[in-house]
Amino acid sequence: MLSAASPPVLSTFVKLRLLIYSRLTSHACTRKTVHGRVWLRYTDRVIERSTKWMMASLKLKSREGRKRNLDQEEESYEESATENRRNEAKSSASGELGRDSDSTKTRNGCSCDWGIVKPRLQQTINIDHIDEDYFRCYADIRIHEQMLSDKVRTLAYRHALLQNKCNLKGATVLDVGAGTGILSQFAVQAGASKVFAVEPTRIAHFAKQICSENGNAESISVIQSKIEDTSIPIEVDAIVSEWMGYSLLYESMLQSVLWARDHYLKPSGEMYPCKASLFLAPINDEAIHERLNSWKQMKDLYGVSMASLEPLTKQALTARADSLHLDMESVLANACCLCHFDLKTMTVHDAQQVQENFKFTCYGSSLMHGFATWFTVTFPGGVIIDTSPYALPTHWGQTMMYLEEPISVQQDTEIDGSYRMQTSEENPRFWDIVVEFQVNRGKKISQHWQCAD
Ligand SMILES: C[S@@+](CC[C@H](N)C(=O)[O-])C[C@H]1O[C@@H](n2cnc3c(N)ncnc32)[C@H](O)[C@@H]1O
Repeated sequence: MLSAASPPVLSTFVKLRLLIYSRLTSHACTRKTVHGRVWLRYTDRVIERSTKWMMASLKLKSREGRKRNLDQEEESYEESATENRRNEAKSSASGELGRDSDSTKTRNGCSCDWGIVKPRLQQTINIDHIDEDYFRCYADIRIHEQMLSDKVRTLAYRHALLQNKCNLKGATVLDVGAGTGILSQFAVQAGASKVFAVEPTRIAHFAKQICSENGNAESISVIQSKIEDTSIPIEVDAIVSEWMGYSLLYESMLQSVLWARDHYLKPSGEMYPCKASLFLAPINDEAIHERLNSWKQMKDLYGVSMASLEPLTKQALTARADSLHLDMESVLANACCLCHFDLKTMTVHDAQQVQENFKFTCYGSSLMHGFATWFTVTFPGGVIIDTSPYALPTHWGQTMMYLEEPISVQQDTEIDGSYRMQTSEENPRFWDIVVEFQVNRGKKISQHWQCAD
């Protein structure tokens, strides 16, 4: 059983979410003025606290007693993973690429099993191993604590479901990736008569307890499984799921939700959320200078010059997309919409790649340090979760992609180009982003970032 003294080992994925969370919930933000503009900046105390926290969690990893507890806690998960591996081995021995091939086809004829949509991956990586790492992250109660503490996110789901009481009264609902079962509870509060809450990690066990705690053990059936590996006995009136990752698609959970839609949603059924859009904008982030300069400051602090580390930091910062909370003043032009999904009609293929051209006209003179993405999702009835710098902060923050060299822009400077985002070859839960662009039709610049942990 989970005990406060024995938290599970944290993967980098969990740490990333938690680092954002510690920043979100901290009151230690200060505002400072840089070149006459107001910037939101986190104090050293917050960063220090987050770093200490992360270091502490890494240290925990080596403690034997803790590991024994973890082994027990995750026993049921490991058992089901082993079972999956056995099934996988059986199906490849019989020449299949995955499970029953008919059951993996979407209504549009695309297949959506991890092992099937990407045959190139099938040959090179162990898909189940990747999912083991992924689901181990969600077996950690702290990631659920973090999501539930994000009130903007969680209340939006609650409002959206309660606002649709007339549609949900007596309805059957499928909660894909139920976690603690919070969305299933909201569905019952909105009048649903039966909810199937599907969650593969051991958190499902606690979701069951929460059902009893709230007198909903009859109306909510918690099923500990991946949605693709279970069978729901009836077609449902609605599917609810919180599948959104950084840059909307990171984690690639949307594909599982679409799989559920294609197998279990009545033709007249509703998706919660029903629409999703991804946005891109050029941004300024003076904090990057501070981070790069910090190595030079080591001389004053410790009497040791460490300027040699600056290129390494720069390389790390510009190779990967990073999540943070931008101030709205940091946005240099109106954002462009990169994709707009209708969850009822989009295909699994649509969820595997985003490709769009963009054109920005800058507001005024500034240094452009990179691009940022954020997303919105909309529910039937109109409730919106907006993760832009103009809205209330959420645990997603915005996704930053720093340029190798900052660019000076003026009022009406034009930046046009293309954005491409696709699942990574090494891990289909990760994404590769490539942006090619020109400033005032000058020389072409191309940069690649990984959206990985
Ligand atoms: C972002 S969390 C949301 C949890 C919960 N619904 C909430 O809103 O707090 C996503 C959950 O989906 C689960 N999940 C991911 N892929 C899944 C799949 N293929 N089938 C079922 N659950 C899945 C994860 O284990 C995780 O608990």
